[in-house]
Formats: sequence, C-alpha cells, structure tokens
Amino acid sequence: MPSSRKPTEHTPAGVQKHLSRHEIERLEGLYGNKYLLEPPPDGKFPAAGMSADEALGLIQQEMILDGLPNRNLATFVTTWMEPQAEQVISESLRVNFIDHAEYPQSAEIEQRCIRMLADLFNAPGETTGARTQGSSEAIMLGALSLKWQWRKRQEQAGRSTEKPNLIFGGDVHVVWEKFCRYFDVEPRIVPLQPDKYTIGPEDVEPHIDENTIGVAAVLGTTFTGHADDIRGINDLLVALKGDRGLDVPLHVDAASGGFVWPFLYPHSEWDFRLEQVRSINVSGHKFGLVYPGIGWLIFRERDDLPEDLVFYENYLGKRDATFTLNFSTGDSMMLAQYYNFARLGHAGYRYVMETMKYNARTLAKEIEACGEFEIIGGENDEQLPLVAFKLTGGQSYDEFDVASQLAAERGWMVPAYTLPPKAEHVKIMRVLVKETLGHSLTATLGSDIAQACSTLAEKGALHKSDRKKVKTNTGF
Ligand SMILES: Cc1ncc(COP(=O)(O)O)c(C=O)c1O
Repeated sequence: MPSSRKPTEHTPAGVQKHLSRHEIERLEGLYGNKYLLEPPPDGKFPAAGMSADEALGLIQQEMILDGLPNRNLATFVTTWMEPQAEQVISESLRVNFIDHAEYPQSAEIEQRCIRMLADLFNAPGETTGARTQGSSEAIMLGALSLKWQWRKRQEQAGRSTEKPNLIFGGDVHVVWEKFCRYFDVEPRIVPLQPDKYTIGPEDVEPHIDENTIGVAAVLGTTFTGHADDIRGINDLLVALKGDRGLDVPLHVDAASGGFVWPFLYPHSEWDFRLEQVRSINVSGHKFGLVYPGIGWLIFRERDDLPEDLVFYENYLGKRDATFTLNFSTGDSMMLAQYYNFARLGHAGYRYVMETMKYNARTLAKEIEACGEFEIIGGENDEQLPLVAFKLTGGQSYDEFDVASQLAAERGWMVPAYTLPPKAEHVKIMRVLVKETLGHSLTATLGSDIAQACSTLAEKGALHKSDRKKVKTNTGF
C-alpha cells in the first residue's frame, strides 16, 4: 500500500527543508528564546515583554562582550569577595538604607564603620562622617564642608565671600575639578613636573591666600600610586597659621591609600595625627575590598561638619539626620564593608596588603628583567600595591602599542596613559596587583608583557587606524 504520509519534511532528494520563520516562531516556546531571532528592546519602549528566562538569557548573552573584571588590571575597584560576603550582599538587596527608622540596625552598623575608620585614621576623639556611593561623593561633601567653613571664617572676619579657591595638584582625580565647576570654586591646580609626579609644600605655598578654602592632597595617586608630601603640606599650613593667622584646612584624598597606608606604612603620618588634616575620604570599594558602591568621609572632629549642611527630618516621630548627595540607596555594600572589618581586622587587612605588595614587587622584577622597561618607584617607596612602568626609550613602539598587543595576545587589560600637564610627554603603563593576581598569574603576566614586546619588535608599531582605538585613560 502506498504511504499516506506526505513528504513535507524532506525534499524528494532527501535533503532536509529548512523551517520557515513562522515555523521557528511556533517552536520558540519549547526550544528557544525570542531574543535569538529579534533585535533587543531599544529605542521604543517595548509594547510587550518576554518571559523571565528570555530576559535573563538576553542580558547574559550580551554581557559576554564586556571585559572580564579579573583581567582588568587597570581598575582599583574590587573584583572578588568571599562567598560569605556575597551572601551578606544578596540577603540585604531589598533594603532602602536611607529609611533609618525602618532599618535601625543598618544605621547602627554604618555608624560602627565610621567609628572604626576614625580610629584607623587616628582621629583625636569622638567624631562624625558619612557613608557615600564612593570617593567622588565623599569628596563633594568634604569639599562643600571646606567651602562652608571658609565662608563662616570670612564672615566672622568681615571679609569677602565672593571668590573661594581650592588648591590641589595635577595628580588628583578629575572629581576635584568637577567639584570646583559644580560648586563655583576657583581651582588652583599645581602642575606636575617632568620628573616629579606628586606635589609638596613648595608647590602649594605660592597659591595660598585668604580665599583658599583648603588644600587637597592625595594618598596614592591614580597615576603612579605615590602620595603627595602630606606631612610637608601640613607643616606649611601650621606655620602659615602661626605667621599669618590663615587657618587653611587640609583634606586628604585617600580614595586608594586610606586602606593601604595604615597597614603597610603605619608609622607614616598622613592622617589626623597631622594638625591641619580636617577630613579624609576613602573608597571602600577599592582597597577596602568591597564591590563597587561604597565610600566614606571622616571628619577630624564633629565641628568640622558644618551644622547647616546636615538635613534633619522627622520620620515616625524620630529625628533623623542625613548628610548625603543621594537619597535612596541600598545597604549591601555598607554591610559588606562591615563584614570585611569584622572578618579581617587589622591583621587580616595587613596580610592582604602585604601579599599584594609582595606580588607587585615580584611582577616589577619580572617586567624589569625583560630589559625594555623601567619601573616608576623604588623598592622602598611608599606606594600602592601596583607596578607603574615605562619603556626605557629607543624602541620602535611605545606604551600604547604594548597595551594593545597585550590585549590582543592574551586579553589582559593593562592601561597606557600620559601624565597630566607639564609631564604630559611621560607615557606610563600600570598594573594593579590585587588578590586576584596571585603568584602564578603575575609570572604569566610578566612573560606575556615580554612576549608582546618581542612581537612588536618584529612586526613594528600598530597601524594608525588601530592606534586610534587604543584606550588612553588610566582606568578606575
Ligand atoms: C585619588 C582618587 N580620588 C578619587 C577617586 C574617585 O573615587 P570613586 O571612584 O570611589 O568615586 C579615585 C578613583 O579612582 C581616585 O583614585
């Protein structure tokens, strides 16, 4: 008997017929995902949604185009935490931390962190501070406090409050200029020098006058990981107070260094042990070892925070004080910071910092041994756990070529950048050596850098069109 089945699925020659778009769509619910055939939602707000699995798949598929955080050796920001810390984070994701009345224990733990940081930074007594989104928010708040205090001093002395200025070096993070622009303060920026990448008292002195709201000094610059001469600047400001009656406060931007110096260089004085240091910011998400979204501002004394910058509200009959630029926010990263303080303590943080520093020295030796580079910073320098280096000169390629070749050959993200004005001719590469870059990976990276140089020596520098695509910022 002839078969009743029609040959719809196969052509007579036995070659399988492709499904039509319509047929594929019919099978989608069983086997596939909408996003496999359609462009992602964009531009027009989607008229209808998709299933939860489809939405998850859509995002996961696109995310592979981002870099791998652990290969990003440019970033100061934490890319790994212990599973228990991640548990703390995931268990607190639903909390809106600003609601202190509803979440009083979170508020208490925030205050514990502030008290412990004040102790770490050698505050002379009980003080206050703020938890922020990062150092940028902390710096905005700290610098606003400087401006408010200056205005009060000027008013008391019957002087003009028209032209505030703030002094800092070219080695600061861009947020300092941002503050000046947003809050109408004249930036007095001390340029770097061709062979000096931080600033000291002699650089600051010529810029100070009665309109100076403060001086900002960096502990651990983004560019080379060194510190400004904070002690020297403090001594200058103390002398100025005695000689000219000008009381100019010092703010220390310890975004990176605030969690490094207390453990690696405890005898080095940069914090509240110095008389003119009135406020300090630090990023919890850098060497505080927490994922992004946490920073801190700590004042020397309660009176360093001007009362009229604090907002009081009545919430359910309780008086609540806030000093932030943002309002609603989570408490996960704050709790993760507390987890680290409790988990590591001084000894644990010291262990982590010493390990990173040791690995940074090992990597520096490897990079030096390849014969193409010089290391910026001596073995005994006080420096963040990183390796900053530049070519010795005379090669047919430059640092940007090396960064690009290294990314092409091994996927490492190592930044190359030029220094700020008057050292802009200096090109630097920099590797952050964190907990995710242990002994085996530092050795691999050292030989990968040497290999990238050999490739470039053979094939020559990048083509002009490739050069245009090389990232030129420091990484954050
Ligand atoms: C010295 C310094 N200050 C401020 C910042 C800004 O910090 P955040 O990214 O925590 O806002 C950075 C970031 O790299 C920095 O290195």
